[in-house]
Amino acid sequence: MRIDIVSIFPEYLAPLRLSLLGKAVRDGVIDLGVHDLRAFTHDRHRTVDGTPYGGGAGMVMRPEPWGEALDSIMESGDSGVRPTLLVPTPAGRPFDQRLAHELAERPWLIFACGRYEGIDQRVIDEYAERAEVIPFSLGDYVLNGGEVAALAVTEAVGRLLPGVVGNPESLVEESHSDGLLEYPVYTKPPLWRGREVPAVLLGGDHGAITRWRTEQSMIRTARTRPDLLHPSQGLTVPGLEDAE
Ligand code: ADE
Repeated sequence: MRIDIVSIFPEYLAPLRLSLLGKAVRDGVIDLGVHDLRAFTHDRHRTVDGTPYGGGAGMVMRPEPWGEALDSIMESGDSGVRPTLLVPTPAGRPFDQRLAHELAERPWLIFACGRYEGIDQRVIDEYAERAEVIPFSLGDYVLNGGEVAALAVTEAVGRLLPGVVGNPESLVEESHSDGLLEYPVYTKPPLWRGREVPAVLLGGDHGAITRWRTEQSMIRTARTRPDLLHPSQGLTVPGLEDAE
């Protein structure tokens, strides 16, 4: 998989060269390119932002450097491969494990990491003609920019690629793989500070262990994330059925 990330803080993406993802990059499983948006400016101050039309607080990222950066990256690729342009924004589609699996099937991801109040909307509209554009959000809170979101998504997607996680079994049993939170886990010693490992896990009855784990997953999900058990049913806004 090819992954390109554009940011005004390319150093923010350095952790992608560490640990399992770093190994995937060195092994060629992930072809990673990190690009400095300011390299695509032409003025002395390397300007990337401007005041918002219509007024308001904060600054908006200007379209020209984004256009040059994305054109240059897209022209460097195979023209037969349609990239997926991921735009981190609190106004985007919530990122979850289902989207991680979808993205793991794509050949080429490009992250456009905005700062300030976001990127001029015309950039998103322009590239919708040449790429699959997905504005996404990490959660209902506001970060200073898209870099942390790009790190999180690259890790969540990268670890699903064949060969990145040593034991693929661990992908099957983890939280969210079956729509539930993972059961509690224990290791040695069997007694620690007076606290025992649940007896069923030491008994060797695999059927009983599976039943106990399923029950624990249900209890944990019901307590911590009841929304996963009862997703809202067909919530609609009158008059907006055909909206994007
Ligand atoms: N940029 C700022 N806040 C964000 C969020 N919650 N998710 C993704 N990108 C963001």
